[in-house]
Amino acid sequence: MSNNEQIPPGVDPTVPSPARIYDYILGGTANYEADREVAEGLRKAMPEMVDTAWANRGFLQRSVRWLAEHGVRQFIDVGAGLPTGNNTHDAVQAVAPDARILYADNDPLVEIHATALLDGVPGTAAITADFRDPDGLLGHAKTRSLIDFTRPVALLLVTVPHFVPDEDDPWGLVRRYMDRLVPGSYLVLSSVTTDRQMDEKVDDIRGLFTRSSAGGVHPRPRAELERFFTGLEIVPPYEGAPAELCYFGEWGAEDPEAADSDGSRWGYCAVARKPG
Ligand SMILES: C[S@@+](CC[C@H](N)C(=O)[O-])C[C@H]1O[C@@H](n2cnc3c(N)ncnc32)[C@H](O)[C@@H]1O
Repeated sequence: MSNNEQIPPGVDPTVPSPARIYDYILGGTANYEADREVAEGLRKAMPEMVDTAWANRGFLQRSVRWLAEHGVRQFIDVGAGLPTGNNTHDAVQAVAPDARILYADNDPLVEIHATALLDGVPGTAAITADFRDPDGLLGHAKTRSLIDFTRPVALLLVTVPHFVPDEDDPWGLVRRYMDRLVPGSYLVLSSVTTDRQMDEKVDDIRGLFTRSSAGGVHPRPRAELERFFTGLEIVPPYEGAPAELCYFGEWGAEDPEAADSDGSRWGYCAVARKPG
């Protein structure tokens, strides 16, 4: 988008937004100059950023497909991002056309683009809501009309937790969501890590996001990401793998060695079931 195009209400093109930065990295056009500047800064600190983004998208697509193949029919995709190729509903409904998918994001541009894309797609809806407000997100009229909370739900938080600082207790927030879901529900989560990365690179990335609408970015070591899955049963990420977190590209990979790239190692992910 150019800055001359009509700017939707609630959207400030001068403040970089994680959704629009990510859209640019994935090759989309729903972004402004301020977003592209941050993304190009990111590329300097992290030359493999496009690979990282697609490794993460691969995790999202393979995991939701796996869940649909294992009978899950409801998905709440929090921090869904701007629509791109093979979105959650595309991957899920290719397996289960009757599945329901709610997209939620705190960037209002996501609801605008997603609503236009989803026009006429049964079983889908998009809302503007903040992960840090579980009552508002789960209690939204569109959520309540689409999702049956007496049946299992997959909660997606894919490359979102690193936008939530420790002070907002992202671990407690995830627990509050999972407490509202019945046994047999799933958590699908990925997040950027500080492991294996040079401190200067991580500092540069932190610096770039301080002026974004998220106010910062919070990559975490593996042990802090493992805490999101406390009380849940992690699914082995690929055949023969232990039931634990893996790098983005490895989840569901037919050839995990081939999927193990520098870009993929920027983050960990897992899928876990609520027991009972
Ligand atoms: C890197 S994108 C990830 C998009 C998609 N989940 C994926 O992995 O392909 C992160 C998304 O999280 C959204 N986000 C960040 N903080 C959020 C919050 N507190 N509540 C809801 N969405 C949030 C951003 O607007 C952005 O769209």
